Order: sequence, then C-alpha cells, then structure tokens
Amino acid sequence: MAERLLEVEDLRTHFRTIDGTVRAVDGVSFHIASGETLAVVGESGCGKSVTSMSILRLIQEPPGKITGSVRFKGRDLLKLSEKEMRDIRGNEISMIFQEPMTSLNPVLTVGRQIGETLKLHQGMDDKAAEARAIEMLELVHIPEARRRVKEYPHQLSGGMRQRVMIAMALACNPQLLIADEPTTALDVTIQAQILELMGELKSKVGAAILLITHDLGVVAEMAERIVVMYAGRKVEEARAADLFGSPRHPYTQGLLGAVPKLGSSLEGRGRTRLSEIPGIVPNLKRPIEGCAFASRCPNVTDLCRKVAPGVELKAPGHFVACHHAPREAIAA
Ligand SMILES: Nc1ncnc2c1ncn2[C@@H]1O[C@H](COP(=O)(O)OP(=O)(O)OP(=O)(O)O)[C@@H](O)[C@H]1O
Ligand SMILES: [Mg+2]
Repeated sequence: MAERLLEVEDLRTHFRTIDGTVRAVDGVSFHIASGETLAVVGESGCGKSVTSMSILRLIQEPPGKITGSVRFKGRDLLKLSEKEMRDIRGNEISMIFQEPMTSLNPVLTVGRQIGETLKLHQGMDDKAAEARAIEMLELVHIPEARRRVKEYPHQLSGGMRQRVMIAMALACNPQLLIADEPTTALDVTIQAQILELMGELKSKVGAAILLITHDLGVVAEMAERIVVMYAGRKVEEARAADLFGSPRHPYTQGLLGAVPKLGSSLEGRGRTRLSEIPGIVPNLKRPIEGCAFASRCPNVTDLCRKVAPGVELKAPGHFVACHHAPREAIAA
C-alpha cells in the first residue's frame, strides 16, 4: 500500500457559541497517500473548510476545539507546539484559499510574497528567493515573470492573483497542498484555466492534494478518491470511478443527480454542479440522533431515526455510512 502521508482520525471540531455547541466536524476519518489527490465534497456548511483549517490548526481556540488526531508523516499535528506548526505551514503543507485578494498582502510585491516564505522556511537570501519567485511565476504560466515579480497584487487580474497564490503555495515544494474551493471566486473561463494548471502541476510537482470543491467536473478530472461529507460527518468514501459509477449513499445519489461522465472535458462545466436535494440540513447545534440524513432520505426507516450508522466497508475501497446501503460480496 502507498505510504499514508496524512491520516485524519475521528476529527471533531466543535465551536462553543452562546446558544449551543456547533458540531461543525463530528468524527471524520480519512487518509491521503503521497502524491494522491483526495476530493472532499458536500453541500455548503457540511464542514469542508473547518476540516481543512483544522488540519493546519488554523481554527481559533476558543471558541473552537479540535480533538482526534491528524498524523502527518506519522506525527500528530494536534500535539505539536505552535512553533512546530509554523514550520510546517506554508512549507511541508501549504494551502490555497478561495479568495486570492484577501490572502495576498496588498503592500508587498509578488516577488516579496513568494520570497518571504522561501527566506523563512528555506533560509534563502534575497537574490536566490527572487530567482526562485521568477521560476515559480513561470511554472504557473505568468507571462513576463521578470516584470510581474516586481508588481503588487492590485496590478494583476483575478486569475493571475490565483496563479500567484498557487506559485506561493508550491514554492517550498510542499508534500501536501490543501486547496479549498480554489476557483469559485473566478469567472468560468479563468476557472477552467486554473484547473488545467492545477492538473498539470499535479503530475509535475508530485504533491498530494486535498481538494475541496462543489464542482463535480473538477473532482472527476483531478481526484483519485472522494470523501462525501454531510452535516459534519463522512457519509461515503470511494475511488472516484466507483463513486460516480455506483454511489451507495442516498445523499451521494441525490448530489450526483446530474453527474458528469468521468473524463468529460472542462467545457459545459456549468452543468456539473451538485444537484439540489429537497429538505434542509440539520441544525448542528443539536446532537443528531440516528442518521444525520434521515429527515431528507427517500429510504428512511425507524432504525435510521434512532441509530446512527457507522462507516462500513461495502465494496472494495468503498465505505458507506447507511443502514440500507447494499453490501457487495468482498473476497477475503
Ligand atoms: N467560528 C465558528 N463559530 C461557530 N460556527 C462555525 C465557525 N466556523 C464555522 N462554523 C460552522 O461550522 C459549519 C461548517 O462550516 P464550513 O465553513 O466548514 O462549511 P463548508 O462545508 O466549508 O461550506 P461552504 O461550502 O459554504 O464553504 C457551519 O455550520 C458553520 O456555520
Ligand atoms: Mg468552505
């Protein structure tokens, strides 16, 4: 089996608020192998961003509280000191956020921003850092990199800013890249270009990627495996082809209502958004008895309302948390 680069086990991130505890992530486990791309999908508010921020410990504590374990190359990140975490962030693990403008510093040139992380983590001097910054801008196909490296974020278009974010994230050769909705703030043609770039870099750079997105077209093109989250829990996990070919959780089946075919081109991606499912997501401030999806599920029974289903292996590499998901005979 490929080396497990990241192993998240029973992750729980709860927020204490005046009117109750929000169980944003409530017992989620998954792993990512070196060089692998794992996508996390699910409706708005299901805990995708909180999961990714918890891995890097970017959750404010309090009001947040993270428990469980997040082992990266065998070390539990939740047990490290803040200083040890700072050595890992932006270096061995880096992150691309949704909105590039808020994550770039407006008063620093592009070259300085990329260079700072290199100086901080890799001890490069100014000259080496600038040379590497130019090299990174070329890698993400920014034209006239030598000139652009001296410009400020506001002088760049949105798509170019997101390329700079990617260049920054990759500058230190991270082993894990966390990309949380890397393209939603961009218009559709730029989205396609950025995704093409990410796909290209995936093979070139060799970093493992935790990809969070609403866009199933992106998932189908980039991810080897997929985790589906619902109300802070993992409801299904499978290889991409298996999840698209035979989704086993009623929630996933609903989401995939209009699934793109695997390998479909980026064109027409407007149609590959997740489908709407009737009903509302449960209130995360109340403990959920039974299955979190019970109130919206077409196959619901009394058992579902009373007993929360555990995540079980239903077919090779295919895990589902549903009392009624069929199990395939699995050869021992
Ligand atoms: N600081 C906080 N205090 C209280 N609740 C929070 C806090 N941060 C996040 N939450 C709650 O945690 C839940 C999960 O949020 P999260 O941002 O992870 O959702 P998401 O799956 O990333 O959604 P989206 O697709 O809209 O980005 C939401 O109900 C959100 O309101
Ligand atoms: Mg989010």
